[in-house]
Amino acid sequence: MIGETLELTVVGVDDIAPSLRHVRLAAADGGQLPPASAGANIQLRLQGEARTWRNAYSLISQPGRRDVYEIIVRRVPESRGGSAFVHEVLKPGDRLVASWPSNLFAPQRTARHHLMIAGGIGITPFLSYVADFAHNGASHALHVCCRESETATFAPWLQDCGDLNYYWDADGHRLDIPALLAQQPAGTHLYVCGPAALNDQVIQAAADAGWPASHVHCEHFGAALSGGTPFTAFLSRSGIEVEVGESESLLEAIERIGASAPCLCRGGACGVCVTGVLEGEPEHRDHYLGADEREGGQLIMPCVSRARSARLVLDL
Ligand code: FES
Repeated sequence: MIGETLELTVVGVDDIAPSLRHVRLAAADGGQLPPASAGANIQLRLQGEARTWRNAYSLISQPGRRDVYEIIVRRVPESRGGSAFVHEVLKPGDRLVASWPSNLFAPQRTARHHLMIAGGIGITPFLSYVADFAHNGASHALHVCCRESETATFAPWLQDCGDLNYYWDADGHRLDIPALLAQQPAGTHLYVCGPAALNDQVIQAAADAGWPASHVHCEHFGAALSGGTPFTAFLSRSGIEVEVGESESLLEAIERIGASAPCLCRGGACGVCVTGVLEGEPEHRDHYLGADEREGGQLIMPCVSRARSARLVLDL
C-alpha cells in the first residue's frame, strides 16, 4: 500500500500529560478506516505555513477498529517541527492526509509468552499489543521505563494488561534487564521500543544471555537523528540539485522540491527508501544496512542518513 493515502479528519485532541497529546482521527468521508493490526503505524502529512512534515506514529487504537485511529504525540524540545505542529496547531475539524497503516513491528503469533520493554513514548506500539493479547488470551508482560510522573498516563489503555510494571530513574526503581531476561519461560519473544540507548542495552543483554535473534524484536525511533551539517545532494536521474538543511532529513529535502522518493517507516528500519550513491560519502544512521553495505558506501537510507562529504550524487 505504499503510495496510497487516506483523507482523515481530526475528531479529538486532548493533553494527557504536559508534553503528551492524544489525537483521534476518523475517515474524512465518514466511512470506515482500513483495519490496522497491533503494532501498526501511519504516516501523517502535517502541512505547516512554511513547510511540510511527514511523521510516522504508532496506532494505539484497538487493533481492527475501523471508526477511529488514535495516536499519542510527545512534544520534544529538539523537534524539527512536526511534534510542535501537533501540539500547537492541530485542532478538531482539521483535515490530514495519511498513509495506509503499515506494520513493521507486529507481535509474533507463535510466541508462548510476549515480553515487552518500553522506554518513554516507545510505549505506544505496546498499547495496541496489550489490547490484542488481552483479546486473544496471549500470555504477556509489559515493563515500562518512564518518568515517575507519567506512570498513570497510559492507564486507560492498559486496564487489561496481565502483568504491568513501571521503572524510573531512582534507586530501587530501575529496571534490571539481565535479571528480567533470565526469568523468562522458553518460547518467549522479546520486544523493545524506546530511545536508542535502551534498545541497544536490551538487544545486547539478550544476545549476552543467548537469546536467538529471531526472538528479539526492536522498533527504532530514527527520525530525531536526521538533522546535522548541511550538504548538497544531486539527483542524477532528474538532474536536480537540492540543498539539505541542518534541520531536515535528506528525504524531506527531496520531498520539499517535489521529487518522489519511496519511503515507509521514515526511521531507517524498513529498507524501502534505499537509494544508490554514485559519488560522495554517506553518513549512515539507519538500522537496515549491513556492515559490508555501509563500508561499501554505495547505498544510503535518505530518511535518516546524511553525508560526510559536502556533496552526494544519488541514483534517483
Ligand atoms: S523509509 Fe524505512 S528505512 Fe527509510
